[in-house]
Amino acid sequence: MSDSLSDALAALEAEVRAACAAARDDNELRQTAARYLGVSGTLTRLLKRIPELPGPERKPFGQRVNAAKVAAEACVAQAHARLRAEARERELARPAADVTLPGRRRKVGRRHPIQRVLEEVVDTFVGLGFDVAEGPEAELSVNNFDRLGFPADHPAMDMHDSFFVADLDAAARVLLRTHTSTVQVREMLSHPPPVRVVAPGAVYRRDDDVTHSPMFFQLEGLLVDEGVTLSQLRGVLEAFLGRLLGEGVKTRFRASYFPFVEPGAELDVGCLLCRGEDASCRVCKGTGWLEILGCGMVDPVVFSNVGYDPERYTGFAFGMGIDRLAMLRYRVPDIRLLYENDPRFLASV
Ligand code: PHE
Repeated sequence: MSDSLSDALAALEAEVRAACAAARDDNELRQTAARYLGVSGTLTRLLKRIPELPGPERKPFGQRVNAAKVAAEACVAQAHARLRAEARERELARPAADVTLPGRRRKVGRRHPIQRVLEEVVDTFVGLGFDVAEGPEAELSVNNFDRLGFPADHPAMDMHDSFFVADLDAAARVLLRTHTSTVQVREMLSHPPPVRVVAPGAVYRRDDDVTHSPMFFQLEGLLVDEGVTLSQLRGVLEAFLGRLLGEGVKTRFRASYFPFVEPGAELDVGCLLCRGEDASCRVCKGTGWLEILGCGMVDPVVFSNVGYDPERYTGFAFGMGIDRLAMLRYRVPDIRLLYENDPRFLASV
C-alpha cells in the first residue's frame, strides 16, 4: 500500500477521533457515525472499492481500512459513554429536592350541611322504624297533583309554580316534582298496606328570591295502617324533633290546608337562633317561630286514587323542609348561605 494512501487513512482516523470528541449530544454523534460508518459513509465506501483493486493490493488495503473502521467504531462508543457520563453529571449538579420540606396540605372537603341534616333526619326516622323510599325528580304531573287530590284548577299547578319538562296531553305531562308527596303515591301504588316510609329528595318550584330557592330539599313521611291516629302523628313528630334539635325544643301545630290530608296542619318550631327574643330576627322574622313542615291525616280520596280501602285504613303524612331544619340545626342566619357554597361558610358549620 502506498505511503500516500496510508497517510490519508491516518488522517481520516484523526478526523473521526476529532469529530467524535467534538460531538456535544447524541444527535451530533449519530450524524458523525453516519458520515463515516453509515451505508454511504466514507469508510463503508472505501471497503466497497476493494474488488476494484489489483489482486495483490486487496488484502493489505482491506486490512488497513478495516482497522480504521474498528478504530472509528471504538471512537463512537467512547464518545457515547462520554455523553452519558456528562448527562449524569449535569443531573447530579442540579439542586437536589429537599426531602425534609413539609408537604402541601390538601384541602379536604366535607359533606354539605343540607346533606348532613338529611342523613341525620333519615337516620332518626330509621331509628323510629321507618323504611327509606325514593322517587324520580322528573315526575308525571298526575302523581304530583291529580292523585293527591289537587283540583284540576289548583293554583299550584299554574305554570308559574312548576317547571314543566314535557307539556304533553294531561295524562303524560311531566314536570320537576314540586314536593316529595309524589313518593306517597308511588309507594301506595306499588305496596299494599301497611306502609311506613320516609322519602328524602330535591324538589323544584319556580320561585327565586331572598327566602326561596328554585331547588330545595324535603323529606316526606307516610304511615298507613289500621287504626292510625292524629295523636300518633304528633307523637312521632315530637319524638323526631326532640332527637334532632334537643328535648327542650318548642313546637306548635296550626290547622292548615293541603289537598291530600284531612285534617291538615303546619308545624312550627321555636326559633333556635333568637329564642323568640329578637324582634328583628331574620330567620323567624321576629315571630319566634319557624314553619318547618306540613302534615295531616291522609285524605280518603288519596286512598281511593291508589286503590287502598278508605274504610279500613287510616294514615298520616308529613313533608318537611330540610333547608329550614339545617338552619335551625346549625344556626344558619340566612337560607342563601346554604346555596352559595362559599367555602368559608361551609367550613364554619
Ligand atoms: N307536600 C306539602 C308541601 O310541599 C307538605 C305536606 C306533606 C303536607 C305531607 C301534608 C302532608 O308543602
